[in-house]
Amino acid sequence: MPANFPALAPTRPLTEAMVQIDTRHGRLVALGKTGWKRHAADPDRAPEDEALQLRELFSELQRTPESDGRPAGFREGVRGAGQNAKALEDALRAHDPQAADAALHRLTAGCASCHAKYRNVPLPAPRS
Ligand code: HEC
Repeated sequence: MPANFPALAPTRPLTEAMVQIDTRHGRLVALGKTGWKRHAADPDRAPEDEALQLRELFSELQRTPESDGRPAGFREGVRGAGQNAKALEDALRAHDPQAADAALHRLTAGCASCHAKYRNVPLPAPRS
């Protein structure tokens, strides 16, 4: 990467953020399936820390210029997702797996409802 790489390179920050969000969310789904136990391969990483990281990603997304330019419903969705991630984190810190399941469910529903409205996926068909 050149030294003068611009801070605001046109790297589609939303896509970048979504990829990271997807990774964290996937880990949380996996943790939820095992009753929110720490991952055996990664015992230092607590589920609540994953939720915290996910919440941070949505907070960052709220602050990106790309988010500013989008409709109010989109920004509302980002805020709601952050709140659900916070609720998940709180439930995990309180060792309340049922509340954690419910928060994860709301969070996941939020991904789908925002994608249904605002995600345009004109991916080119793979050439073979
Ligand atoms: C407030 C709206 C909103 C929320 C909430 C949201 N997304 Fe997205 N997501 C989008 C939009 C818009 C795109 C398309 C981005 C683009 O232009 O590449 C997208 C794209 C994606 C992609 C594809 C990225 C790529 O490589 O092109 C994934 C994966 C994804 N989201 C996962 C998630 C997950 C998981 C959640 C919930 C934890 C979530 N998203 C929540 C709006 C949202």
